[in-house]
Amino acid sequence: MTATLILSQAATGENATLLDWLARISNLAYIVAAVLFLMALAGLSKPETAKRGNTLGMSGMAVAIAVAIFQAVVHSTTDSDALDPVITVVLIALAMSLGAAYGIKRAHSVEMTGLPQLIALFNGMVGLGAVFIGYNSFVSESADSMGAAAYNFHLGEVFLGIFIGAVTFTGSILAGLKLSGKVKGAPLLLPARNLLNVAILVISLVLMVVFILAGEGTTAWIAVGIMTALALFMGWHLVAAIGGGDMPVVVSIMNSYSGWAAAFTGLMLQNPLLIITGALVGSSGAFLSYVMCQAMNRSFLNVLLGGFGTDGGAVAEGVDGTHTEIDTDEAVAMLKDAKNIMITPGYGMAVSQAQYTVAELTRKLRDQGKTVQFGIHPVAGRLPGHMNVLLAEAKVPYDIVMDMEEINDDFDEVDVVLVIGANDTVNPSAEMPGSPIAGMPVLKVWEAERVIVLKRSMGAGYSGAQNPLFFNENTDMLLGDAKASIEKLAAGISN
Ligand code: TAP
Repeated sequence: MTATLILSQAATGENATLLDWLARISNLAYIVAAVLFLMALAGLSKPETAKRGNTLGMSGMAVAIAVAIFQAVVHSTTDSDALDPVITVVLIALAMSLGAAYGIKRAHSVEMTGLPQLIALFNGMVGLGAVFIGYNSFVSESADSMGAAAYNFHLGEVFLGIFIGAVTFTGSILAGLKLSGKVKGAPLLLPARNLLNVAILVISLVLMVVFILAGEGTTAWIAVGIMTALALFMGWHLVAAIGGGDMPVVVSIMNSYSGWAAAFTGLMLQNPLLIITGALVGSSGAFLSYVMCQAMNRSFLNVLLGGFGTDGGAVAEGVDGTHTEIDTDEAVAMLKDAKNIMITPGYGMAVSQAQYTVAELTRKLRDQGKTVQFGIHPVAGRLPGHMNVLLAEAKVPYDIVMDMEEINDDFDEVDVVLVIGANDTVNPSAEMPGSPIAGMPVLKVWEAERVIVLKRSMGAGYSGAQNPLFFNENTDMLLGDAKASIEKLAAGISN
């Protein structure tokens, strides 16, 4: 009550400097939060410091939320047109409880393999939030309240915020549905699809001019309404045109878009921290997408325009031959004879949750004096760094976990490669034109003396491309669930 009284006095000028001080304290807290976010990003760049990075990020977010609530209470106490402070607090508490309840439930239930879909959903929600805030900002501000020049600028922010939010929303939702396998089938390649995207951009630009010139009324509503529909279509269309093997970059691009949508939301709400955070997410997402494009040998522009990773699929028919199946005893014998062993894990290791047994097998092999290393493909699994996270969780030493470029020229010195639930990332057909993964660098496991592939069947990988590796003379298939097979291998090595 005392605080409310002081704030009311501040509003009526009795304690005029107080409001000024509160604004300064808020800004200071925002700087602290922004620094924490930067330190979080730095921490997340290495597996050793990733946990600390997460903690710093969460602390920054706690500061940001506390300041946002504080500012809302100050605003509702000092502005006679605003909601009653008690109602404000109740509404915030309600929204936070609902969000927290959903977040906690999903965090407990989500499988590691379901994280990309969840991230796509979160990105989509940021986009939808930007659309709603854009419309709210349009309705609640006016040229009278802001001044004509500032209002025109504000309308530009509103328009761009809604545009990028709508693209992010439908693009991310479709990416999530594709990743979860709920939307399947060949990429949608409409005739002149790039022209269609460019036309949408040009029409939206014209609509933005119309929107700003009209400022309010039916014309402005029609302009922003048509643009929203076009942007929703564009987000869906961009992602619909992308082929399976290239989805990792799409999620990262959508992550970047969601950052820019948040930055525009910050501009609309005049919230500096949201602008900083949005720009951080936007630029780090764009940087990650760029790095992933390089790792997959894709053009960044193609990703932005959509429609890559869509060639062929024909390679599936081109692959044929006889494969050799072995049992665990034979695999154990090969491992016992080997000196230099490389393990290349993929999505199947995550599915079977084999990381702990893989760590145990690694320990046993190293105890017997063998050199064991891990070769990690940049898009193995379903998340950037997916394999690194699983191996770190199982306490595999960081210094034997190598990135693809560090070891890809060394396979000819390897006695046995254990391919554990990997497929596209070890598929030599990437070197064949017409393959869905054509041009993507892959781990050259076939150059090793022997290759043992652990998977459940002879089926294709995520991109749908069949894998000629399985039919090579120096490849043996150890079919079955990866965890069960590795358990038997680890037991065999001890005997
Ligand atoms: P994939 O090509 O997806 O192949 C995984 C293999 O694991 C499958 O062929 C499957 O064969 C096997 N498998 C599944 N469950 C198993 C189990 N319980 N035990 C043993 N094997 C099992 O994996 P990858 O080599 O890691 O390549 C990743 C692919 O995902 C790439 O195409 C990449 O572009 C895409 N992708 C990556 C990301 C990121 S950012 N990493 C995100 C989205 C998509 P069976 O069914 O025969 O067992």
